[in-house]
Amino acid sequence: MAVETVPGAGAGGPRSRLIVDCDPGLDDAAALVLAHHFADLVAITTVGGNAPLSEVTTNALVTAQVFGIDAEVHPGAARPLVAEPRHAAEIHGASGFEGATVPPLTRTASEVGAVEVLIETIRAVEGLWLVPMGPLTNVALALRQAPDLARRLAGISFMGGSAGAGNHGPVVEFNIMVDPEAAAVVLGSGARILMAGLDLTRQFVVDDGLADSLRAIANPGGAMLADLVVGYLDRVEAVRGARGGGLHDPCAVLAVTHPGLVAHTRRQVGVELTGTLTRGMTVVDQRLPPGMDDPDGNVWHGHTLDHGAALDALLTAVAACG
Ligand code: BDR
Ligand code: CA
Repeated sequence: MAVETVPGAGAGGPRSRLIVDCDPGLDDAAALVLAHHFADLVAITTVGGNAPLSEVTTNALVTAQVFGIDAEVHPGAARPLVAEPRHAAEIHGASGFEGATVPPLTRTASEVGAVEVLIETIRAVEGLWLVPMGPLTNVALALRQAPDLARRLAGISFMGGSAGAGNHGPVVEFNIMVDPEAAAVVLGSGARILMAGLDLTRQFVVDDGLADSLRAIANPGGAMLADLVVGYLDRVEAVRGARGGGLHDPCAVLAVTHPGLVAHTRRQVGVELTGTLTRGMTVVDQRLPPGMDDPDGNVWHGHTLDHGAALDALLTAVAACG
């Protein structure tokens, strides 16, 4: 696979330092495990998205507990900047984690909120990557309050948007649909930005074979993720009539920890804020030929994933930590 090297992503160098901003969700949980195993996970922040804030914060704590992740969990925004809150119960269940049997929770959330910890940590730690995988509300609030974060970060590698079909509308992806105004703040921030949109993340296939591989690891974390995969596939089948999907959020982590697995091209990307059919659409300017970077592009658009290697990385991380 031809791979564009994204400046700053860390192949072969020292372990990257990450903050993950998330709304677990099966795929967020898998992404946290990858981040913990293959990078230094400095903090976890949560945002209302797949489920309400209290639920996704609990799910992040459960994931941290089951996989021995010691990073603190910091609750963030319960609602988008402007829009009314929306959740994805039809895909992830009302709790965000439906289908899994989880152990009694022993971990507790930090009293320091997400925006505060983002600002403090990004100012204190050199070369940090921010990896958002839910609505971009916390990130936008931090950037508005502290615009210097954009140049202090090594980069922002986010899961969201699409250069083609959407999932919660014909051209609209869930994370950007929930808070398009926040996405506009992030895309306009001047930070180095890596995008893992649906056109990339659907290449990380979720099917019953993935559940079998996770269960075969035979540890509590593998069993929990396998149950989440089966619950996710059952709900997707009920809603969309076909059993299958993408493991979206891990792609944003892999773009940093395993840059050789994701091919990027530099593009101009904006977000539609006013369209009646297209509000929340990420508009990726692909007029230049495939692989030709736009020197003025604000985003490194991830377009091709080495799925086999990505799956190996996930199974390795689950076997080591779960
Ligand atoms: C994104 O939306 C959520 O449901 C997933 O966790 C992922 O971050 C995919 O559209
Ligand atoms: Ca997510």
